[in-house]
Amino acid sequence: MKLIIDYANLEKIKEMYMYYPVDGVTTNPSILAKENRNPYEVLKEIREFIGAEGELHVQVISKIAEDMVEEADKIRQELGDNTYIKVPVTKEGLKAIKILAKKGVNVTATAIYTQMQGYLAGKAGAKYAAPYVNRIDNLGANGVKVAKDIHDIYVKNNIETEVIAASFKNSQQVLELAKYGIGAATIAPDVMNGLIKLDAVTCAVDAFIKDFESVCGENATMLNI
Ligand code: E4P
Repeated sequence: MKLIIDYANLEKIKEMYMYYPVDGVTTNPSILAKENRNPYEVLKEIREFIGAEGELHVQVISKIAEDMVEEADKIRQELGDNTYIKVPVTKEGLKAIKILAKKGVNVTATAIYTQMQGYLAGKAGAKYAAPYVNRIDNLGANGVKVAKDIHDIYVKNNIETEVIAASFKNSQQVLELAKYGIGAATIAPDVMNGLIKLDAVTCAVDAFIKDFESVCGENATMLNI
């Protein structure tokens, strides 16, 4: 399962890349709005940092298919041809996905709340489909199950689309989907940090250090004894 960062702040993205095995960056209009600058300025900095081959996902804003396609062209002009164009899976969105897929554009179908949206997006030719796990949970349904079902639909129908599960709020949701072998998960930095944060681990490491220092002295390591 690929691990993607769902964020647009360059400093945070750099930090995430430094500490974790990260495979790319996703953004959405709300995430970009938090930076309070021209979105292309922000996205170009991210592109420069992750490199021309890095996975960058950018969402269109328009609601009509033809306008979405035009936006996609502009996004790719500005940020590179391999930029993944996020298209919400509405009726117009599906039309846009079909057009873009035919042109060979990488599409990430987004705003997916149901298995049927996932199926249609895959059949329309999207490269990724993004079910919103936590938002689905908040509707009283089961986000992890929706993501797994979409994965199964692709496998059983020989659809090459990968699930990129999105909208996580806790480690359990991420772990469940990693165990299932879905294509990717896109995760905000706080949830990413939460995947590794465990008091028991900190206590274990501190105890090792304390024992070592009790014999070798304060600040001793295997380097300076
Ligand atoms: C994914 O495409 C969305 O950008 C994102 O994961 C939504 O996350 P949220 O529900 O935390 O806003």
